[in-house]
Amino acid sequence: MTESHAFPESFLWGASTSAYQIEGSPLADGAGPSIWQRFAHSPGRTANGDTGDVACDHYRRYREDVALMAELGLQAYRFSISWSRVLPAGTGPVNQRGLDFYERLVDALLAANIKPNATLFHWDLPAALDDRGGWLNRDVADWFGEYARIVFARLGDRVPLWATLNEPWVVTDGGYLHGALAPGHRNLFETPIASHNLLRAHGTGVQAFRAEARSGQIGLVVNLEPKDPATSSPHDERAARRGDAYMNRQYLDPVFTGRYPEEMRDIFGTAWPEFPAADFALIQQPIDFLGINYYTRGVVRDEPTALPVRIAYVRQPAHAYTETGWEVHPPSLTRTLLWVTERYGRMPLYVTENGAAFYDAPHAIDGAVDDPLRVWYYREHLKACRAAIAGGADLRGYFAWSFLDNYEWSLGYSKRFGLVHVDYETQTRTPKASARYYREIIRTNGAALDG
Ligand code: BGC
Repeated sequence: MTESHAFPESFLWGASTSAYQIEGSPLADGAGPSIWQRFAHSPGRTANGDTGDVACDHYRRYREDVALMAELGLQAYRFSISWSRVLPAGTGPVNQRGLDFYERLVDALLAANIKPNATLFHWDLPAALDDRGGWLNRDVADWFGEYARIVFARLGDRVPLWATLNEPWVVTDGGYLHGALAPGHRNLFETPIASHNLLRAHGTGVQAFRAEARSGQIGLVVNLEPKDPATSSPHDERAARRGDAYMNRQYLDPVFTGRYPEEMRDIFGTAWPEFPAADFALIQQPIDFLGINYYTRGVVRDEPTALPVRIAYVRQPAHAYTETGWEVHPPSLTRTLLWVTERYGRMPLYVTENGAAFYDAPHAIDGAVDDPLRVWYYREHLKACRAAIAGGADLRGYFAWSFLDNYEWSLGYSKRFGLVHVDYETQTRTPKASARYYREIIRTNGAALDG
């Protein structure tokens, strides 16, 4: 195998989105509101007051979008299912029309020879469940298990790849600690409880899959971000370890080793509860693959006033940053894939998200979108994937974030991550230069990286 052909023949090339970020029509056909519907409509919560009411109008344009995916040569498409379309109140009566939408989408993908990769929860908890305590209520694990069972009963014969949750760390850090994301709480004591219940829900989701689905594989999707100490001082080194425990190991250690990292108690102090030992058997069930979302690394120093983790990020002047303020650091993607492989054992991995926000204006005359920085970002990160495979990681596929420009949560429409430009006034889709580049990568199974 030559270096330029280091991706296995079966390597899966795809792109990702999530429900609230692209679908629009959040209350259509009997759907209930989600916490994102509520949060986005609360004054002052999102940039420019932007909401997902229309987004990319994918709910109504999904056929056109699937055709575009096929044109771009995508072999797989990762999307999420909106819980409150399926169960408007989160539990109780099923809204068949919500399930019908995802069934039509899945069938359109299969007809276009694109493998569906469905995530059950990408942050849009039914608002009715938030009213019952949301991720703070231990019952949420059962609510999630029941929702998962309903979805598997309808689609479990056709979707080859499933994920329970997308990025539990962001749900809790953004939603319960810092409040920048729905439901917008800022409470140190709530944060570990929400994390733990997310992991328990992951467990019941896996159980429901084993009981109900007839084929396919299930995993968990986490966002991993290695933490490097800014200096070699022991304070900064300890700070980096705290940052790593908080963001990375807090979710992976329980799933793969059945316990939380030592550092959690130091970070949360009296806010760190004792969890029932029996919970860990539920959390630690075997999964078929791990999905990794990778965007950046963090260089950190000790900062005693920055509670609870006590780290501050140190900007790296020699490196490029994206418009979300994230350092571009491809070697850390290689490192992350190899670290997971070493620490938790060799297992099937997918990069389920990777991409960058850059502003690229459509050309004034022909509307073409040239995005050289994004092309460069993808090229270097795909080379980093290839290096990880060469180093022994069992990486099975890669999903670019994102297929379309979309609703970047509290940043609204101000940040564009798409391979495809979306004109939000007209809903015109224009593949960017990066989409053409990615198509060539897919066509050559990665060999074009060296071109
Ligand atoms: C999330 C996406 C988000 C992307 C860029 C990930 O944390 O899964 O929903 O749009 O990062 O911020």
